[in-house]
Amino acid sequence: MTSLQKDILELREKKALVQMGGGEAAIEKQEAMGKLTARNRILALLDENSFQEYDLFVEHEARGFGMEKKVLPGDGVITGTGTIFGAPVCIYAQDFTVAGGSLGLMHARKITKIMDHALKMKVPIIGINDSGGARIQEGVGALAGYGEIFYRNTIASGVIPQISVILGPCAGGAVYSPALTDFVFVVENISKMFITGPNVIKTVLGEEISMEDLGGARVHAEITGNAHFYAQSEQECFEQIKKLVTFIPWNNRERARTFEPKEPMFEKTVNDIIPSDPKQPYDVRDIIRSVVDDSDFFEIQELWAANIVIGFGRIHGETIGFVANQPMVMAGVLDCDSSDKAARFIRYCDSFNIPIVTFEDMPGYLPGVDQEHAGVIRHGAKVLYAYSEATVPKITIILRKAYGGGYIAMNSRHLGADFVFAWPSAEIAVMGPEGAANIIFRKEIMEAEDQDAMRQAKVKEYIEKFANPYVAAAKGYIDAVIEPRETRAILKHALEVAKNKEESRPTKKHGIPPF
Ligand code: HXC
Repeated sequence: MTSLQKDILELREKKALVQMGGGEAAIEKQEAMGKLTARNRILALLDENSFQEYDLFVEHEARGFGMEKKVLPGDGVITGTGTIFGAPVCIYAQDFTVAGGSLGLMHARKITKIMDHALKMKVPIIGINDSGGARIQEGVGALAGYGEIFYRNTIASGVIPQISVILGPCAGGAVYSPALTDFVFVVENISKMFITGPNVIKTVLGEEISMEDLGGARVHAEITGNAHFYAQSEQECFEQIKKLVTFIPWNNRERARTFEPKEPMFEKTVNDIIPSDPKQPYDVRDIIRSVVDDSDFFEIQELWAANIVIGFGRIHGETIGFVANQPMVMAGVLDCDSSDKAARFIRYCDSFNIPIVTFEDMPGYLPGVDQEHAGVIRHGAKVLYAYSEATVPKITIILRKAYGGGYIAMNSRHLGADFVFAWPSAEIAVMGPEGAANIIFRKEIMEAEDQDAMRQAKVKEYIEKFANPYVAAAKGYIDAVIEPRETRAILKHALEVAKNKEESRPTKKHGIPPF
């Protein structure tokens, strides 16, 4: 055996030892919880044989609390590069089998190093979180590590896509890295996210709550809106991530990959979807499915603020971001949560060169003391800000109701829409016909012998005069009144025309959006 061959064997042994992470017992414990190991997660997510690991032999330098005697393989995190459907990504996965995936200084340095690579190479960064948080024995070194991650998350925001996958505990300040990234994925029974855990809550407030009820996957997918994608298993979660990566570009200077155009496969035609009674709800996702390639609509934050629908689809092979009021949930009103949901997505699309198509059917902002006191003014303003700020192609289709503030907010011509189309069923008015007639014809209605008959006559008069698309079309606020069946073809045409759109904004350091 040559000395090189001996060296190679030694290298293999060293690698095998570190690759065992926390050892067999810890791996068994991890798997007994229904969790894959950090390494297997990376291998399951990336293209076969594409993973290249770095910093395998990094060791911690902590002293005190018995740390000098502790060997923590890879310092509890695996980092590297690989591909997903051939597209390069940078990735890290915290290894819970090594000191609970806790974050010490060298662990953090491995993460910040791969984040720096991602930002320099202009490729997405994927972080798999499974950690007990700041490594208690390392004190401020661990806190410094978190701060340096948050700083990079912020610098990379809007430059490269950042994806967080929560596959275990993610507690304390650790939650702020995912919160600063673009998309957060959670898995039933596995993900746990909170600032302070059940024990602290019990001590400080005397309240008892389980970890699952406090910060489990469903909580973040349905109630808090912290998560964007919810899955039943890790494998399902990886499929969702892979699919997302097909819709987004590598960085803010590129466009998303294009695919072979496919006709929609949806069983209903657009004409069949909207009920003839304007008060009847319908599922706006059916409209989206009936216009996107292969009827493939990839919804984001499906379970949270469902009165607005956001997600990606393709038209003629190109990625489009869809924003649509959902008449099936609270009549599709805008409220605090749905405004936040829409505004953030619009800003994402704008940052990453993804055209935005808006489907509008909503009676306005949700009235009520709760909403007012929850700050619907500043939350609602985010939608106005996001649409006005966006310079990607912006197209609106008014399906039915476009009342009041809602008409303006949902990418109206006045906020810089490039094209606004309306179906003949569109009603564009300051408010709904009943409310409007009751106010402007109050005297006539009060004085009439048959008040109900007069009210109905006045509502009809109002609808004929104002609740239609033609008043707005006469002022040029709508570019064309179109038949529903023409929608996909018109969108395709408008998107082609807008493909090389250029629109500049005054030079500024950054705006100050309402928060
Ligand atoms: C050091 C830790 C650790 C930590 C876990 N471990 N968390 N070591 N620092 N933060 C170690 C445990 O000692 C144990 O080591 C191994 O990881 C596995 O942990 P277990 O407790 O046995 O696992 P489990 O029962 O599954 O419980 C997981 C857990 C629990 C819920 C995450 O470990 C836990 O509560 N940890 C502390 C969480 C926490 O309070 N973190 C600090 C948050 S504050 P051995 O050697 O026995 O296998 C924070 C500030 C960041 O993060 C601020 C940024 C701005």
